[in-house]
Amino acid sequence: MRQMNTVKVTINGIQFEAEPNTTILKVASANGISIPTFCYHPNLSIAANCRMCLVEVEGAPKLLPACQTEIRDGMKIWTESEKVKSWRKQNLEFILLHHPIDCPICDAAGDCKLQNFYNEYDWEKSRLWSFTDKLHKSKRKILGPNVIYDAERCILCTLCIRFCKEIYGQHLLDSRNRGNRREIIVAEGETLDFPYSLMLTEICPVGALTNRHFRFKKRCWFLSSSPGICPGCATGCATIVDHDEGIIFRLRPRQDIEVNGPWLCDDGVLAGELHNTERISSPAILVNGEQKPVSMEMAIQKAGEILKQTPSEKIGVVLSAGCTCEENSALMNAREALNITGPIFIEGRPEGEEDNILRNKDKNPNKRGAKLVAQGKETLERKDLIELVNAGKIDVLLCLGSDGPDKDDFHRNASIISLSSRRGNLSNNASVVFPAPSYAETKGTYINFKGMERKFDISIKSWGSYKPPLQVWETLNILFEKTGITAKKFSGDNLWVSAR
Ligand code: SF4
Ligand code: SF4
Ligand code: FES
Repeated sequence: MRQMNTVKVTINGIQFEAEPNTTILKVASANGISIPTFCYHPNLSIAANCRMCLVEVEGAPKLLPACQTEIRDGMKIWTESEKVKSWRKQNLEFILLHHPIDCPICDAAGDCKLQNFYNEYDWEKSRLWSFTDKLHKSKRKILGPNVIYDAERCILCTLCIRFCKEIYGQHLLDSRNRGNRREIIVAEGETLDFPYSLMLTEICPVGALTNRHFRFKKRCWFLSSSPGICPGCATGCATIVDHDEGIIFRLRPRQDIEVNGPWLCDDGVLAGELHNTERISSPAILVNGEQKPVSMEMAIQKAGEILKQTPSEKIGVVLSAGCTCEENSALMNAREALNITGPIFIEGRPEGEEDNILRNKDKNPNKRGAKLVAQGKETLERKDLIELVNAGKIDVLLCLGSDGPDKDDFHRNASIISLSSRRGNLSNNASVVFPAPSYAETKGTYINFKGMERKFDISIKSWGSYKPPLQVWETLNILFEKTGITAKKFSGDNLWVSAR
């Protein structure tokens, strides 16, 4: 039955109902009909300048832009008629007239709308090249610390200009000249140095704006892509992790309407660094004031000795706001198994910049989750940790993650047992270090600053000779087993569920 307040349209002979004032493009894509677009983005204003989305509408004297034209009751639309197909070819021929076609050296190759549409809709030689030389414009123009511009590849869709104005709220980009000499420039008196600049390289439909950190690092068809959650701050944006051979090359946004929509900040795009750098690759113990790599057995033995010879009230447990609920639950499980009665601390990265778009000043993805894992028990902060160690009330710290006080903050030594993926204050000063998986090598749950729970799976598994470290709960299970401590065994799947 037809619902009130809807209109009927026919697309390619099939009838659909939709709300009035919806554009043809939206009705088509909601019903699985694809129409090519360059200058359209669902979160930006409509410019209708690329003409790639033109469709045939009964009674209209000319083809109409699907991204801009609203449906009317009884409208008949064709998206694949001969007229439309012929237009797409002509439009691509025109766009490609002065395009350098340097796909072999373009970072966007394999992931470029112009390349894809040419393959899908055109696949013809230009009729015009013999009549005209290619026009040359600026290439490799550095627009800011993260973004480089190639004016010859630019199709002047203005998505980049609109993103700066409408999402970031500043008129940072502009264009100069007219016709085929037109190109994008940084607006007068501005610099393209803002926390969302890499989203420009994400929305640019061709290889005109490229990410300076990713440039020439990897052809996109060699990358494996897995869904993840950004570890950069407490917003918890949904990501796609692009990786190869155990290295993360970039994070891209994955739509989560309630959290980040289609965007990420630059810290998020570059958060691969938290996986790629400063990694702890082997267990180690402190010998004569220096950490020496040792076997897992030796590290387990040393950790067992330290824990067994320390009164339980003098052992502090340090949860990590950067680790998952499951990893933190594993540590709380160890606390229970070892009958530790000392305090619980939560450590993490220091606060940073925030804004009203995405970035949160809490630069940890899971402080709220770590608090929940403590199940109502009091959790203390860094200043308390320093005070208690210096006052001789804590002798041992069993820690997750590497963030924590600097050595110079203590005037008395505590033995640190650290389970961490990266080097940092706690692992650098530890008596025993166990390597732990990075955020991309574990699966689990983060709870963002609004209390939204997001689960993610392992992105990076074994690769050739590279084996990711044992999961935190696996290391702790071995510790219990080898040191004769009776504890419930957990896996990543049941840890968070059983902790709630
Ligand atoms: S640089 Fe990219 S996003 Fe900006 S106008 Fe050119 S093609 Fe469009
Ligand atoms: S806002 Fe926070 S969670 Fe989102 S991409 Fe940036 S650092 Fe990552
Ligand atoms: S997508 Fe409609 S005119 Fe560009």
